Amino acid sequence: MANATAAFVLGTRPEIIKLAPVIKECDRRDVSTIVIHTGQHYSKSLDTVFFRQLDLAPPAVNLDVGSGSHGEQTGEMVIGIEQHLKDADPDVLFVQGDTNSTLAGALAGSKLDIEVAHIEAGLRSYDRDMPEERNRIIIDHAVDHLYPPTGETANLLREEGISDNRITVTGNTIVDAVMAYDDTSSSVSSILADLDLSPGEFDLLTAHRAENVDDRDRFANILFGVAAAATRRENDVIYPVHPRAKDRLEEFDLSVPDCIRTVEPLDFFDFLRLESTASLVFTDSGGVQEETCVLGTPCVTLRNGTERPETVFAGANCIVGHRPDDIVAGARQMRPKVGDWELPFGDGNASEYILDDLGFDASHRTRQPQERAASSGGVKEP
Ligand code: UD1
Ligand code: UDP
Repeated sequence: MANATAAFVLGTRPEIIKLAPVIKECDRRDVSTIVIHTGQHYSKSLDTVFFRQLDLAPPAVNLDVGSGSHGEQTGEMVIGIEQHLKDADPDVLFVQGDTNSTLAGALAGSKLDIEVAHIEAGLRSYDRDMPEERNRIIIDHAVDHLYPPTGETANLLREEGISDNRITVTGNTIVDAVMAYDDTSSSVSSILADLDLSPGEFDLLTAHRAENVDDRDRFANILFGVAAAATRRENDVIYPVHPRAKDRLEEFDLSVPDCIRTVEPLDFFDFLRLESTASLVFTDSGGVQEETCVLGTPCVTLRNGTERPETVFAGANCIVGHRPDDIVAGARQMRPKVGDWELPFGDGNASEYILDDLGFDASHRTRQPQERAASSGGVKEP
């Protein structure tokens, strides 16, 4: 019997990072893979650098869709993905997260006779102004297999009427990625020396979400608040600037306070190194809230809510919004780096649990039909 084939649709930095462990686990099990890149992210620093560093083969296909309005971008992706899925006829299509690329993959795959699996299913911010929130809801209701990271997220899916036998709690593949690369990052990254930083004596910032940086006042308040908090802490802040934020800084003619040092987007090893040695991380990123929790670094989230409440319950994260006073108060409220909280996102074997659940059996090199236990999975539910 021919080997099973898994297709992956991805298009942005976090999807590459979080799907890398699943692609590698497919390789280990001799499952053939085909990666369809939408081209949503195309700058080298958001794209090819991760394929190279995480030792992934270049995508089989790049649709080169690029930037655009939500409809334009998503529509163009759906057309291209459908064509390539018809040609490849995979056993399973994987999508991850909540971007327009994820949505396009889920829509295209779910209309074909292909099983679609959503990794990181069930996250909800309950903020319908976020394009990602609308994407998540549509994706979760369109796909066949849902892999929420935690028991809480699985419950949110059940509450929306999604049947239990489509849901398996696995943990988040970001834990697989951090565990796989944290040691390598410590040994190969020279970012601390490059930026003349000492561990524990600087803070880190990422801010790129549309609802934050596309609003001039909000972006200005975030920069002001982070600078005020860091000044009290006598720390400089390193800010790797995402291209969306870079465009807005220029368009709004915003000046960045002196204590915030802007740098280009970093590769994964350099960024992990900064995350794990920073005193405190300010962010509006989803993945960064998860990684700081895994790495034991306190996090202050520059949003009004989070779809990762487990990080807050663990004591690893606080949600402060974008008002300067609240940012300063949040930074003071976080305990110094101790990292003694429980890890909510699994044991670093999410990729294995996902492939096990789908019946991709290493020893048989083919796909075995699986008995799907209701809400079973590799990670114990609370
Ligand atoms: C997208 C996701 C967001 C995710 C982020 C990860 C959606 C709706 N948003 O946001 O959930 O957190 O990726 O980083 O899918 N640009 C470049 N080079 C690139 C890509 C983008 O310069 O390689 C610039 C362009 O000016 C573009 C802007 O960034 O218009 C925004 O890019 P886009 O892909 O639309 O959204 P992100 O903000 O990256
Ligand atoms: N990241 C990176 N370099 C950077 C900033 C972030 O490698 O300069 C990684 C980070 O480790 C995490 C992912 O990018 O794994 C998060 O992506 P992003 O914040 O763009 O998207 P989100 O998670 O908010 O969707």
